[in-house]
Amino acid sequence: PLYTVVVPAAGIGQRMQADRPKQYLTIAGKTILEHTLENLYAHPQIEQIIVAINPLDQYFDSLPIASKTWVKRVDGGGERADSVLAGLNSIQNADWVLVHDAARPCLAQDDLSKLLATAEHSEHGAILACRVRDTMKRGNTSHDILHTESRDNLWHALTPQFFPLDALRSALGQAMAQGIAITDEASAIEWAQGKVHLVEGRSSNIKVTQPEDLHLAEFYLQHKAT
Ligand code: C5P
Repeated sequence: PLYTVVVPAAGIGQRMQADRPKQYLTIAGKTILEHTLENLYAHPQIEQIIVAINPLDQYFDSLPIASKTWVKRVDGGGERADSVLAGLNSIQNADWVLVHDAARPCLAQDDLSKLLATAEHSEHGAILACRVRDTMKRGNTSHDILHTESRDNLWHALTPQFFPLDALRSALGQAMAQGIAITDEASAIEWAQGKVHLVEGRSSNIKVTQPEDLHLAEFYLQHKAT
């Protein structure tokens, strides 16, 4: 089967301290957003990408990628979840949908294949994730350690995240209406008591967030596993 990906790209990238949103910073001659979209579309099972862009954005329409037939722009919202929901609401007919952060240009093709293969014949959604490496501490607001969290079964949630469209749309809509803090799609499904499978992916699938991440992303893009 072929799939649509919703890419939230309406953030302002405050932690990056740059003159423009982080998805428009350049790595090896191309913006992060272009790397992300081209990388997704290079997968044989991806046929369309819906990209949620800030309505006041001045960058997207000047990128060559903006005029591709397989790219569709929708207006993003104030929070990542609003942007994702806007993307989901613009999909006409699909059983399953992928959501992938614009700020993750280093996704490996085989990790995407693994995610699709794991979930496409199941009833439940799945996300790419990687295991926590460091010892995990729970702190209080004064930064004193309360205790050490067990690392067993602790994962970083990555994207893409892959869900049945109707289930995701209703869970996300309802969770947001209840004021639940939603930082990924799985949290909405969890809130709605749905089951989500963790698919182990590469830790190189970083979300470019801080200035030093640009160098790391450049390295991973140059040494990309396919
Ligand atoms: O801010 P954060 O790194 O969590 O953003 C993750 C992704 O969500 C980014 O690709 C960002 O552009 C997107 N986003 C969005 N709309 C917002 C905030 C973030 O599409 N209002």
